[in-house]
Amino acid sequence: MCGIVGYIGHKCARPILIEGLKRLEYRGYDSAGLAVLNDGQVAVSRAVGRIANLEARLNGDGANATIGIAHTRWATHGGPSERNAHPHIAQNGRIALVHNGIIENYRTLRTFLEGMKVCCQSETDTEVLVQLIGHFYKGNIEQAVRDALHEVQGTYGIAVLCADEPDRIVVARKGSPLIVGIVGPGEYIVASDAAAIVQHTAQVVYLADGEMATIARDGFRTTTLENVPVTKEVQAVEFSLDQIELGGYEHFMLKEIFEQGQSLSMTLRGRLNTREGVIHLGGLANHTRDIARARRLIFTAQGTAWHAGLVGEYLFEDIAKIPAETEYASEFRYRNPLIEPGTVVIAISQSGETADTLAALREAKEKGALALGVINAVGSTIARESDAGVYLHCGPEIGVASTKAFTSQVAVLAMMAIQLGRRRFLSQPEAKNLIDALARIPGQVSAVLEQSEAIRKAVEKYIHRENWLFLGRGYNYPIALEGALKLKEISYIHAEGMPAAEMKHGPIALINEGMPVVFIATRCSQYEKVLSNIEEVRSRGGRIIAVATEGDEHIREMAQHVFYVPDVPEPLQPLLTVIPLQLLAYHAAVLRNCNVDKPRNLAKSVTVE
Ligand code: F6R
Repeated sequence: MCGIVGYIGHKCARPILIEGLKRLEYRGYDSAGLAVLNDGQVAVSRAVGRIANLEARLNGDGANATIGIAHTRWATHGGPSERNAHPHIAQNGRIALVHNGIIENYRTLRTFLEGMKVCCQSETDTEVLVQLIGHFYKGNIEQAVRDALHEVQGTYGIAVLCADEPDRIVVARKGSPLIVGIVGPGEYIVASDAAAIVQHTAQVVYLADGEMATIARDGFRTTTLENVPVTKEVQAVEFSLDQIELGGYEHFMLKEIFEQGQSLSMTLRGRLNTREGVIHLGGLANHTRDIARARRLIFTAQGTAWHAGLVGEYLFEDIAKIPAETEYASEFRYRNPLIEPGTVVIAISQSGETADTLAALREAKEKGALALGVINAVGSTIARESDAGVYLHCGPEIGVASTKAFTSQVAVLAMMAIQLGRRRFLSQPEAKNLIDALARIPGQVSAVLEQSEAIRKAVEKYIHRENWLFLGRGYNYPIALEGALKLKEISYIHAEGMPAAEMKHGPIALINEGMPVVFIATRCSQYEKVLSNIEEVRSRGGRIIAVATEGDEHIREMAQHVFYVPDVPEPLQPLLTVIPLQLLAYHAAVLRNCNVDKPRNLAKSVTVE
């Protein structure tokens, strides 16, 4: 999604802004731009495509400026073009603005502005906001921003510069994150994502929805949109610079797949008491009684996080014996769902900013549900708006395709299910058995990763096949869905995932000579049934790629390729069975020369509907 960076201090702003934009590249963008204040003028540069294109545009104008704002744009209103790239400039040329989000009533505002003889130059919704600020400006940029925002419907994170007040940046947010980094006396960096800040400081202030800040060389002040002062807590950013650098890997996705032993350890750390067979989740401490008494649990999320929710559904019904279901947040928010007393809604999101997931959480809260969050990004909107929740603590995820966040989401849901199970029908020995197995998982990841090269060689054989099937049953059905999604999104191969038994009800017609079909065929309660499904595919010429349990030699006779995962209790299998599928998608994308970390048309965090 779009990214914002702003800088005010004593250093040259441009290199800091460009570096910040590069840190946000992973979120996806199609154009970029920056504006600095130089000799009492706004100097703007914009370019379509890579940030390198923007750098190539920069000339001597503004090279020494010490204040500026910058943006990476992901087109929504108006195609990707230089004219539509941010920053946008007010008609008088004195005010510049960058914006994340959507101004929903921009047509009405544009008509109003035209009546005032103010013309927009771009096709964007954003430009009306800067023109409106220009219209309201009477010598106080903070007040003009406030007045303009009162007219706006929609979502925004904005940063505004004014040539007539060259010592301040005004920022505001509603529905789109903004963080102020405190670098030193009179020096600040503001951004929509901590990744653009960590290199400069670990001290940050997270703006909340409906808040504004004026960041000046002599300090910053935060208020509400109604100008009521707000005291903000300075917090430490959770991650360090090396966590958002490649560290010798070719791609972030590969780095994050290989990090899963460590990221799972971080998720489990301090939460498992293997001696007593107890789980401790601090974030839920005040609510465990209510959750354990829940009559119904709804997981809501999108994409990979939705797949984690589906594993959660199996875990909660199986281990905690609480009725559970999983809903796409985009459907849940609009279908006027029935929320009865005793309903608990759990929003799952790596970024904590996905627009639909956030809206579903709000809908659930409004209807009286206890709303919980399973989130990675600390301080994100969903994390702040949840009644309670559990952080993943798996470190920043930079690759667009979610990998380590998925395994950490499943690990958190497993811990929640065990904890609640203990308050219901799960015996202490059963809980201890699962907790012991969970504690061993991080150490078992490496046995799966060691097969990366073998997976690459297998994928190479089918790299020109345009249709793949992924099949699994029980706990591994969501993993089939996730394997197919990973392959689709980064290698652009068409893939479908489904319960293995569903194949017979139509999709089996697709199977022809040589079609690759991936089975998650671990030792589990439905193992024999999966073997029958394998036979059905084999007899129609399909090629079998199986993920199986270590020591299963029988499956070698049925499959062209077998990748093994250690033997773990069935509810925990998804934590390991997904890894070969992540590697499979990764190698397919590399073999097809796809841009692994920045797949076409995709953004890391989908903050618009
Ligand atoms: C797929 C992927 C997406 C996200 C989805 C939700 O690899 O990353 O499907 O899982 O956009 O994102 P979060 O978890 O940030 O809410």
